[in-house]
Amino acid sequence: MSSTLFRTKRVEQSILDTEEPEHALKKSLSALDLTVFGVGVIIGTGIFVLTGTVAKNNAGPAVALAFVAAGVACALAALCYAEFASTVPVAGSAYTFSYASLGELPAWIIGWDLVLEFALGTAVVAVGWSGYIQSLMDNAGWEMPAALGSREGADVFGFDILAAALVLVLTGILVLGMKLSARITSLVVAIKVTVVLTVIIAGAFFIDGDNYSPFVPKEKAVEAGESLQAPLIQLMFGWAPSNFGVMGIFTAASVVFFAFIGFDVVATAAEETRNPQRDMPRGILGSLFICTALYVAVSIVVTGMQHYSRLSVDAPLADAFKATGHPWFAGFISFGAAVGLTTVCMILLLGQTRVFFAMSRDGLLPRFFSHVHPKFKTPHRPTILLGVVIAILAGFTPLTELAALVNIGTLFAFVVVALGVIILRRSRPDLHRAFRTPWVPVIPILSVLASLWLMINLPAETWVRFAIWMAAGFFVYFLYGRTHSRLGRQEETTVGEVVKPPRGDTE
Ligand code: ALA
Repeated sequence: MSSTLFRTKRVEQSILDTEEPEHALKKSLSALDLTVFGVGVIIGTGIFVLTGTVAKNNAGPAVALAFVAAGVACALAALCYAEFASTVPVAGSAYTFSYASLGELPAWIIGWDLVLEFALGTAVVAVGWSGYIQSLMDNAGWEMPAALGSREGADVFGFDILAAALVLVLTGILVLGMKLSARITSLVVAIKVTVVLTVIIAGAFFIDGDNYSPFVPKEKAVEAGESLQAPLIQLMFGWAPSNFGVMGIFTAASVVFFAFIGFDVVATAAEETRNPQRDMPRGILGSLFICTALYVAVSIVVTGMQHYSRLSVDAPLADAFKATGHPWFAGFISFGAAVGLTTVCMILLLGQTRVFFAMSRDGLLPRFFSHVHPKFKTPHRPTILLGVVIAILAGFTPLTELAALVNIGTLFAFVVVALGVIILRRSRPDLHRAFRTPWVPVIPILSVLASLWLMINLPAETWVRFAIWMAAGFFVYFLYGRTHSRLGRQEETTVGEVVKPPRGDTE
């Protein structure tokens, strides 16, 4: 049994699968498209919303250092992702990579985990978008009925109709085709980057140096009775739960890590890239570098404009301008943030459907979902199914705790990818790697440690939720995936030979 759990899909087979016409995606993206795609998904709720929350609750102005810490962890992971993406250029990101190196069960675990990351990530960003739209509506004097507004802290039963509507509209755009969505993405990314640069450049003139003192606020104990909300590391070592201080920077880093999620999504589009061997590493590392620089600059400016204890938690970037008497800038920033969050949401949704598509193509989920649309060449079935589920989720769920759950899932994926680089170097040294991670195994090991470090700085309750989700995944795998696996069926036919399965065998 253990040999079937760790059967690996040959890299050549992974690439071959993408060439079957009914299961193939269009190859149309360049390195620049990927970078735009990366920046398009990376800059979002993390910088526009979470910066204020963590500065206020966990780190003060040192939130800039939290961005550096999270950025370092992501850069280490990116170096590993880039090698995998350039070696195994097919849809599905860490899922596909681990199928080729670690085996079927680890691949299933990671795929299941990525579904969590992208689905909840899409929902979080859609809810954030809805908040900005409502803030713009407020400016114009229109108010959303409470039952149709944001669920965050709401005391009436309701459904965030704007968040759900956004997800459904984006689902439609994705079904119509990659090219259309990439064009819209470029335009929106330009608006978003303009807004972020406006915050940095205009905001720099309104900095009051006094706001930086203290830069790292003194450690402060938190109320007892909320033990599951404390970072796991504080419970593990029996420390009194606290905020701020040096440990507060790491608590903040584990939350603002959300702001970096997305560079790994670039890897999910490998199959749709014209020259993945060359363009994939460029796209991943380029977009990550640009975003880290912008985040550090934005957080330094914003915590300099307004004392961290007074920052707003809903729209901190816009409200810092209001606080310094510049409402016009605030309106412009709110508008740009709402536009920018649209692409974040769309690309997360895209990554989500591509992982689901890859898992279904391998037979771990019903093959019904892996047929591409004859005209649009998009995996329309998983796109529509997941779009509807996420829209419902976004309508009913408040966002704060979901972000932590997204982070733990993503960090776990990073751990698997880094281990996969080491394993694949040993098991398949012959494979052509257009990009090679430097200093293997040092960089992958550092990447594993950095990701684990951020994970244990997340609340204990996030770990509990993550464990429940993963347990459900095991259940599905042993009930369905293990017996329907396309790889497993091939092994039954012949050993060591690549055999094309009959078309539509499980439909
Ligand atoms: N990194 C993306 C954001 O911050 C997911 O919204």
